[in-house]
Amino acid sequence: MGANLYFIGGGNMPTAIIEAVRRKSDSYPVDHIRVEEISEARAAFLKDTYGVEPAQPTDTPDADIVVIAVRPQDDVAGVAASVAKRFDPAKTTVVSIVAGYTIAKLEQSLGEGWRVVRIIPNTLTTVDYGYSGAALNANARQEDVDAFLNTFGKVLYVEERLIDIITGFYPPNIVYHFIDAYVDAGVLAGLPRDVAKAIALDTIIGGTEFLKQKDVLPQVLLNINNSPGGVGITEAYTLNKTGFAASVQTAVLAAVERTTSLGANAK
Ligand SMILES: NC(=O)c1ccc[n+]([C@@H]2O[C@H](COP(=O)([O-])OP(=O)(O)OC[C@H]3O[C@@H](n4cnc5c(N)ncnc54)[C@H](OP(=O)(O)O)[C@@H]3O)[C@@H](O)[C@H]2O)c1
Repeated sequence: MGANLYFIGGGNMPTAIIEAVRRKSDSYPVDHIRVEEISEARAAFLKDTYGVEPAQPTDTPDADIVVIAVRPQDDVAGVAASVAKRFDPAKTTVVSIVAGYTIAKLEQSLGEGWRVVRIIPNTLTTVDYGYSGAALNANARQEDVDAFLNTFGKVLYVEERLIDIITGFYPPNIVYHFIDAYVDAGVLAGLPRDVAKAIALDTIIGGTEFLKQKDVLPQVLLNINNSPGGVGITEAYTLNKTGFAASVQTAVLAAVERTTSLGANAK
C-alpha cells in the first residue's frame, strides 16, 4: 500500500514536489495525492497535468502526510486549525513548507499531540541535487517523513534555529546571478553568448566536481592557481577591490533576514 499525501496550497513549490514524487514512484509509491487549492483554474491544471485529486476545505480523507504549502502572508493559522479539525494526529504528520513560520506557531494552531515537521524544500527538486532542511517537533519521527522528503533531493535534519538561515542561503538563485554575470563578462570581452554560456556552465560544474574530488576548500585551489604576478591573482585582486565577497555575503544575510521577518509577520 502506498502513501496518501494531502497538500493545502497548490502553487509553484508543492507542484515541483508533486512532480518529483511522481518521478520517484518506484521508491516511494503513493495511492492518492490530493490538493486543496483556492484557485479553480490552478486545481484544474494540477488535475490535468499530474492527475492529482482536487480537494475541498471540508474534506476529511485519510492522509499520512498533510503538507501546508500556502504563503506566509496567507492564513496559515486558519489552515492549521482546519487541519486539526479534519485529520487524525495518530495517523497524520503535518509538514509545513511555509518560509519563516515556526513550529511553535503551528503547534499553537494545531493543538497538542501533533507530529509537526517544518521543512524548507530544496528547489532543485528534479535533478537530485540540493538539500532540504528539516526540523522536527518533539512528537515527530524521522521515519514518518524521510522517504517522502528524499523524493525531492537530499535532506538535512537540523535544529529549527538553522531553518531560516538555510532558507536564505541555499536557493540556486545566487548561482544563477553569478552565471548571468559571468556569461555577460565573456560577452563583454568579445565571446559569442552561446560560447560564453557553454564555457561558464562547464567551468562551474567542473570546478565544483574538482573541489569535491579534492575535498578541500576553494582557497587551497586558488593558492595553487594564482601564481605570483599572474593572471589569476590579478583577477582575485580585482574581485577583492570591487567587493565581490562582501556583495555575496550581504545578499545572503539580507535573504536570511527577509525570511525571518516574513515569518514573524505571518498570521
Ligand atoms: N517557491 C519556492 O521556491 C519556495 C521554496 C521554499 C519554500 N517555499 C514556501 O512554499 C510555500 C508556497 O510557495 P509557492 O511558491 O508554491 O507559492 P505560490 O505559487 O504563490 O502558491 C500559493 C498557492 O496557495 C493558494 N492558497 C492560499 N491560501 C490557501 C488556502 N487557505 N487553501 C488553499 N490554497 C490556498 C494560493 O491561491 P491564491 O493565489 O488564489 O491565493 C496559491 O495558488 C510558501 O509558504 C513559501 O514560503 C517556496
